[in-house]
Amino acid sequence: MLSRNSIHHLRQVTRRIKHGFTHQTRSAGVTAASQKVFDREKRYGAHNYASVPVALTRAEGVYVWDVDGKRYFDFLSSYSAVNQGHCHPRLVRVLQQQAERLTLTSRAFYSDVLGEYEEYITNLFGYDKVLPMNTGVETGETSVKLARKWAYKVKGVPQGQAKHVFCENNFWGRTIAAVSASTDPVAYNDYSPFVPGFIIIPFNDLDALDKATQDPDVCSFMVEPIQGEAGVVVPDNGYIQGVRDICTKNNVLFIADEVQTGLGRTGKRLCVDHEGVKPDMVLLGKALSGGLYPVSAVLANDEVMLTILPGEHGSTYGGNALGSRIAIEALKVCEEERLAENSERLGVLLREELNKISKDLVTVVRGMGLFNAIVIKPPLDAWDVCLRMRDNGLLAKPTHGDKIRFSPPLVITEEQLWQCIDIIRKSLEESA
Ligand SMILES: Cc1ncc(COP(=O)(O)O)c(C=O)c1O
Repeated sequence: MLSRNSIHHLRQVTRRIKHGFTHQTRSAGVTAASQKVFDREKRYGAHNYASVPVALTRAEGVYVWDVDGKRYFDFLSSYSAVNQGHCHPRLVRVLQQQAERLTLTSRAFYSDVLGEYEEYITNLFGYDKVLPMNTGVETGETSVKLARKWAYKVKGVPQGQAKHVFCENNFWGRTIAAVSASTDPVAYNDYSPFVPGFIIIPFNDLDALDKATQDPDVCSFMVEPIQGEAGVVVPDNGYIQGVRDICTKNNVLFIADEVQTGLGRTGKRLCVDHEGVKPDMVLLGKALSGGLYPVSAVLANDEVMLTILPGEHGSTYGGNALGSRIAIEALKVCEEERLAENSERLGVLLREELNKISKDLVTVVRGMGLFNAIVIKPPLDAWDVCLRMRDNGLLAKPTHGDKIRFSPPLVITEEQLWQCIDIIRKSLEESA
């Protein structure tokens, strides 16, 4: 049985998909060059995305250009993967240099880069060890596997009994385990059977967490400190500290999914830093390579990390020399260019200005740092607003119906942000 919310959401998605393809095939403003790009993807690619109809060919910093040479502000940052800005020159340089030397040894052999990366990232975040993977969802998978090893070897959960707690409206990727944890029918429909032992509780509900984690077979609680795909949902102050306290009390591993919120996005190096909290595992991806190459990581201390022995987990590309070199540089760019500070400062300005927009157009403004969303008031439609913003030179995408996420690259300047605010305001007014 689908809830009313789910049915509403399914309708929105169906509409969005129809709408997207209609625009891709009929919109008067689309040039022949762009149309060719849309048509070829539609003909030869799986239809698993409803992309905003814009065909990009070049990018630099906060800007992207389409095949007709039109420039846009990127206000999505590839879902926070390009916090450092597109094609950051330092990242492009190390990519070129490392690509000419050594790219992949597999973990069958050592490379002279992986250890350097492991030392750098663990010192930066204060964990004993890192387990390198490639994509964000692999870090979720890895953390669930680590939690199970820890459950059986350390906590003493009987074999086959381990359980994991997740929140409603979580998003951590597209594998079978990730969609088994999902409460979004669009993500899980027709993918059963699902992984057993996954328990769902409401987000931002410490009583529910306490109750769920008193079950002695529960070994982990995975949570995004701010729910991104759900529409940048910020929990109450003190929630993350409460999660830490409850997980410690009930002997459950606290897994912070910082794949989207990490690396300066919310105004601190990690989102959990806002409350000075240290999770048992931290998941990183996306901006860990600044958009150049898939690199992801699980950080944990030895009690957890050393439960996995040689041969028990891995990935051919995980920890490769090219990715490791880029990740070191991507982290250094975040630190040396003080991207978290810029995010914090400009995020305040952005929300202040968005809040001045008429409540007849925007009902909610929320976020932290440069991780923000607005909720659009019907009959205004988020997809139409995004098309209008595109026409006015700014790219963003609706998430879950009536919400639009605003997450520009963290290298954006105040002057650029003011231009973006003008475009957003103008586009909303024109859409009314
Ligand atoms: C919080 C969070 N975790 C995990 C993922 C999965 O990352 P990937 O798409 O690289 O597998 C995402 C992707 O959007 C995410 O937002």
